Amino acid sequence: MTGKVLTATLNGICCELVSVEVDISSGLPSFNIVGLADTSVKESKERVKSAIINSNFEFPINKITVNLSPADIKKEGSLFDLPIALAILSATSQINHKSLKNFVAIGELSLFGNLNKIRGALPITLNAVKNNIPNFIVPSSNCNECAIVKKAKVFPFSTLKQVVHFLNFKDLLPYKINKEDLNPSIKYEKDFSEISGQESCKRAIEVSSAGGHNLIMFGPPGCGKTMIAERIPTILPDLTYEESLEVTEIYSICGKLNNKISLINKRPFRSPHNTSSQISLIGGGSKILPGEISLAHNGVLFLDEILEFKRKVLETLRLPLEDKCIKISRYNGSSTYPCNFMLVAALNPCPCGFYGSDKPCSCTAYERKRYIKKLSGPLLDRIDIFTFVNSLSYDEINSFNSSESSSTIRDRVSRSRLIQNKRFKDEKIHTNSQMNRNHIKKYCALNLKASNLMEKAYNSLNLSARAYGRILKVARTIADLRGSNKIEEQDLIESLQYRKFINSKII
Ligand SMILES: Nc1ncnc2c1ncn2[C@@H]1O[C@H](COP(=O)(O)OP(=O)(O)OP(=O)(O)O)[C@@H](O)[C@H]1O
Ligand SMILES: [Mg+2]
Ligand SMILES: [Zn+2]
Repeated sequence: MTGKVLTATLNGICCELVSVEVDISSGLPSFNIVGLADTSVKESKERVKSAIINSNFEFPINKITVNLSPADIKKEGSLFDLPIALAILSATSQINHKSLKNFVAIGELSLFGNLNKIRGALPITLNAVKNNIPNFIVPSSNCNECAIVKKAKVFPFSTLKQVVHFLNFKDLLPYKINKEDLNPSIKYEKDFSEISGQESCKRAIEVSSAGGHNLIMFGPPGCGKTMIAERIPTILPDLTYEESLEVTEIYSICGKLNNKISLINKRPFRSPHNTSSQISLIGGGSKILPGEISLAHNGVLFLDEILEFKRKVLETLRLPLEDKCIKISRYNGSSTYPCNFMLVAALNPCPCGFYGSDKPCSCTAYERKRYIKKLSGPLLDRIDIFTFVNSLSYDEINSFNSSESSSTIRDRVSRSRLIQNKRFKDEKIHTNSQMNRNHIKKYCALNLKASNLMEKAYNSLNLSARAYGRILKVARTIADLRGSNKIEEQDLIESLQYRKFINSKII
């Protein structure tokens, strides 16, 4: 007696279809799972047996062999419970085996036959639809994320009993997601208009957001660094449908999707604590799950009090910042996750916090140097914009002039992103921050006046070749924000301002 059910396995962001084959033959009662199943899959046996019996179906007292094919890819997780149970019920003719054709089944079973939520239901659905398998049997708590996939017919259930009834009678229509869930209006709880003053910092944030530049904010305690950073996602262009899917997939893999939210359409803002380990930041662990950098994909990764992070942990950010994806290798295989984020960091300029601000600094030059030295190094090389946030004056705090709203700033940022998309349509990049040397040569030509200024700055500030490139990239973004094809002297002057803190030896 044989049974066969389709399911899938996850490896990083990638999925593969897996066929669960069951053979029941006479012999001493046994239950074996083969096909590179890890311990979490092998535990399925106990759950599947109890769930079948407790749902009042018959569990065969024979020799049961389960094969997960293809046998050369590693399988992990509890999502195989349901397909294994269905394959056994099909092999013993308790389900009409023809009814399982063209279905992918996923779900964890409880001992009592309830269907529990699994991780990664969205990427599995996307992959199966790509492979022309359109029908899905999923736990009710996963149904919204599966139903956002166009062309997917999703049948959600809470118990094994309900699944079997459906397969025998086919008496249900696929689950329909609310239109508003598929395209919910984007509403951020925070807004730039809540930030008083800090005009120069806001401008630096706008330039960073427009060109996708990484940024560091210095400033005394309580001046609003964290407050400003938290509002950056609200001025970034809206996520496209594809970008939303990418973000939602990562949250699905981490099991962080709540079933009320289907498609994530807000840009992520992740602010890991400075005691974070390498695994929680980059990803990994025994199941090789995505870390904070991937949870910040298409959004903002904010490292508050960056000097408090362990240096070794910060250094692991170098490669993902360049590659926009992270490959995590472990003894049990490797997984790749996307991590295209904007890095925003904040710190006090010295141990007492007031160096360079309106209030006096009580640190010695040696203390300051020792403190800021921690920041130097390869990570610093990947920051384009440095900005100082000063304490608010009494007038600024009490000002009733309302500041610009996020949506006004977002319009300008979006317009400049459109210019960049058009410029780079034949290149493999999207934003100015991603330009390499050749792109800089091609797209950042300076007129005579600007070129003279650059030469002066290069010599007097002792700039490196790398700093030279960064200044031009930021100037390109500033010109784009003006809607100008040419980089003028004024763009370059502003761009040079954003390196003032490096050049003025605060660092
Ligand atoms: N520019 C501002 N406009 C309005 N409120 C502000 C501003 N700056 C600070 N605040 C108020 O002060 C609080 C503290 O600000 P925030 O935590 O952002 O400061 P910070 O610069 O991050 O300080 P720290 O260096 O201690 O982390 C905010 O929650 C906000 O209520
Ligand atoms: Mg803060
Ligand atoms: Zn100080």
